[in-house]
Amino acid sequence: MTVSGQWRYQSGFGNEFASEALPGVLPVGQNSPQRVAHGLYAEQLSGTAFTAPRHANRRSWLYRIRPAVMHEPFAPRDHATFHNRFNEALATPNQLRWDPWPLPAAPTDFLDGLVTVAGNGGPDEQAGIGIHVYAANRSMEGRFFYDADGELLIVPQQGRLRLATELGVLEVAPLEIAVVPRGVRFRVELLDEVARGYVAENFGALLKLPDLGPIGANSLALPRDFLTPLAAYEDVEGDFALIAKFGGALWQARIGHSPLDVVAWHGNYAPYKYDLTRFNTVGSISVDHPDPSIFTVLTSPSDTPGTANMDFVIFPPRWLVAEHTFRPPYFHRNVASEFMGLIEGAYDAKAGGFAPGGMSIHNGMSGHGPDAVSFEKASAADTTVPDHLTHTMAFMFETRKALRVTRQALDSPQLQRDYWRCWQGLRKMFDPARP
Ligand SMILES: [Fe+2]
Repeated sequence: MTVSGQWRYQSGFGNEFASEALPGVLPVGQNSPQRVAHGLYAEQLSGTAFTAPRHANRRSWLYRIRPAVMHEPFAPRDHATFHNRFNEALATPNQLRWDPWPLPAAPTDFLDGLVTVAGNGGPDEQAGIGIHVYAANRSMEGRFFYDADGELLIVPQQGRLRLATELGVLEVAPLEIAVVPRGVRFRVELLDEVARGYVAENFGALLKLPDLGPIGANSLALPRDFLTPLAAYEDVEGDFALIAKFGGALWQARIGHSPLDVVAWHGNYAPYKYDLTRFNTVGSISVDHPDPSIFTVLTSPSDTPGTANMDFVIFPPRWLVAEHTFRPPYFHRNVASEFMGLIEGAYDAKAGGFAPGGMSIHNGMSGHGPDAVSFEKASAADTTVPDHLTHTMAFMFETRKALRVTRQALDSPQLQRDYWRCWQGLRKMFDPARP
């Protein structure tokens, strides 16, 4: 939790929030009065279909200095590395791993520093996921961004970010995440000299807390640990740029004022953040490593029950106490495809080569699991003694469709072309005469 900000947030997941930067702005008993207080405009921002079932319906009412329509026409804008052209990318069964993504040398803000690594589906399908990394060394200045194609799950790995959004300000540090909903305009400021991290662009259903089944009413991510900002506004005029991601590409329009001019708002469609260290981790207290779904923080459901469009899963510090069992994740092949990143420390299934800021992709049905060194170590470990995994935070963006990997990611010098060798040292131990 950042000390700086608790007071600026409201607590809860998907609540009906209400916040006023000036008292008395929110209308009582209605959303769209004939005249809004202080000469503000009323505007609804819908995050789901008007007719979505009540439990899934998301929208907020914004009371702002100028309505969102006030800007000049958009024109296409190039971005060399940030896109959704997954049809041109390669769906490969090869296991892939990258060294930490490099920090920029030239001045680069969050938007310029986005690089698309992989993805599937897209905005036209309203399904799938874009996976991007960012590396930046300056704040966005004079420009604002929104993504009409998907909500953005931002996972800082290095450096704190201040996300100034239409609905208020979120400060996030490594070990925290932020979600900026589809359509919400924002600016990313750096609170440290450099910033690096990962972004999932979710084209599917909005991320939500997973169902808990027999776990019961508690555990995993607790709703009250999600924080949504209080209203905060800028009354600033100037020659600014509004950059939109729409239809998989970027567009830019001139705008004569800051669009972060929402003085009050209410509703359940808003940005939020979450401190990953608050995750109430659940695991085995008898034998065997559970399926990693036990580590799900947020999930975007698909039209098939139990089959997520994407899951956001973390591997936090925890005790391993299961006896006479292989404690690290077992060897596996899954119908789902996995992108992994590492925020800090080391990951327990790999003896080396997976560094903070790095990443790996294991596509559907591609075999993977502990490397040879980790297998040997865990096979010989004394499981009557607990293991305490500390100073570690790996995460996974898991998705139901194969991940198509972009050329720029495959050609990058960070790709470890010898990753496959980490399993080649697994010895043949089979001996029918051996017990
Ligand atoms: Fe896996």
